Amino acid sequence: MVAQAPSGKKPLPDMMTSIRIDKSGQVEIVDQLLLPHSVVWIPISTPEEAFEAIKSMKIRGAPAIASLAALSLKSSLSRSSLTNTFSSTQQVVDWVKEQCDYLQSSRPTAVNLSEAMNRIRAYLQNVSEGKEEIIEKVKEICQDVHEEDLERNMQMGKLGADWLFAKRGKGNKNKLKVVTVCNTGSLATSGYGTAIGVITALYEHDQLDTAYYAQTTPYHQGSRLTSLELTTLEIPACMICDTMLGSLFQHEDIDGVIVGADRVVKNGDTANKIGTYQAAVLAQRHNIPFMVVAPVTTIDLSLKTGADIHIEQRPSIEATQVRGLNTETGKLSVVRITPEGVGEGDKPWQRVYNPSFDVTPAELISCVVTEKGVAERKEGEKAIDVASIC
Ligand code: MRU
Repeated sequence: MVAQAPSGKKPLPDMMTSIRIDKSGQVEIVDQLLLPHSVVWIPISTPEEAFEAIKSMKIRGAPAIASLAALSLKSSLSRSSLTNTFSSTQQVVDWVKEQCDYLQSSRPTAVNLSEAMNRIRAYLQNVSEGKEEIIEKVKEICQDVHEEDLERNMQMGKLGADWLFAKRGKGNKNKLKVVTVCNTGSLATSGYGTAIGVITALYEHDQLDTAYYAQTTPYHQGSRLTSLELTTLEIPACMICDTMLGSLFQHEDIDGVIVGADRVVKNGDTANKIGTYQAAVLAQRHNIPFMVVAPVTTIDLSLKTGADIHIEQRPSIEATQVRGLNTETGKLSVVRITPEGVGEGDKPWQRVYNPSFDVTPAELISCVVTEKGVAERKEGEKAIDVASIC
């Protein structure tokens, strides 16, 4: 599927599509480690290849990794060289379950991936069909995981934009200034995006003044990817360093902070890209609405509070090195920004703390938006009833 540009406009350029599938069914991903400087497509045919691409963050973003994991299973099950080796239905079931466990272990925090794998497992629980039918049904579920993402993003975009617009003081005719962190657009999803979907919807309705986006170190999803998406779509935008949020809130009238999510638990606590929590604390201090936008597949009602969320730690090297374009040679390069040994040596002064996500307590969140609706936190309450929008 090709990601879509804002409604009515032409399909997005290649580099803004995280996953593409050609006529023969070959799945390819754009290597996000090389964006925005270089557009390189990598074929993905097996769960092993998908696992590596997800773990190394060649593809990232909660919905996109779930899509790729599912599509890699579908690709494998489309090859007779594999399916001919299954001599019984039990063998198919065992193989698929094993692959689901394996793919799920690639990144632990984003729940969309486990939700997708759980859907396949749930189907396999009580199968009575024959080998061929089971294979076809699993392939169908995998395709659904990928395809349903785009439509729900457009729905969330509309719901979120309407909510924020309604929040704006009556009589205030100014267009909105909003802030986002990380990358939640086409590259993180199957198209349109979650938080970026809301920003795009505001822009489409001529209600956006400026989308401020944080660089989002250490991986730079903001400066590399959100930057690429917003400049390509020509959406009025302004990059800020992560350290500038407080200053921005002091000096500009910001109408809302809009973020995506990797896991929203029962009480509304939300795990999202590192830096989201500090944005929420600052937003509350400045009385700015803080909105979480995520599909139902990101809601995990099995966990009661954010304290139960497993936070992925990333390798130190991702914080001590920066990848970019050497403007003198025109070549991509990786440079270390710390003294030698930091993050690699075992001395007490060489340690690096590098969690990939943080948890924002629901009491700092104004509302959660899914494709089914908007759940607002009631005045004075500490939790949000996310089950009502599942
Ligand atoms: O580590 P990443 O880049 O996969 O983290 C991505 C985020 O935290 C996004 O905000 C989240 O997945 C929502 S994307 C629609």
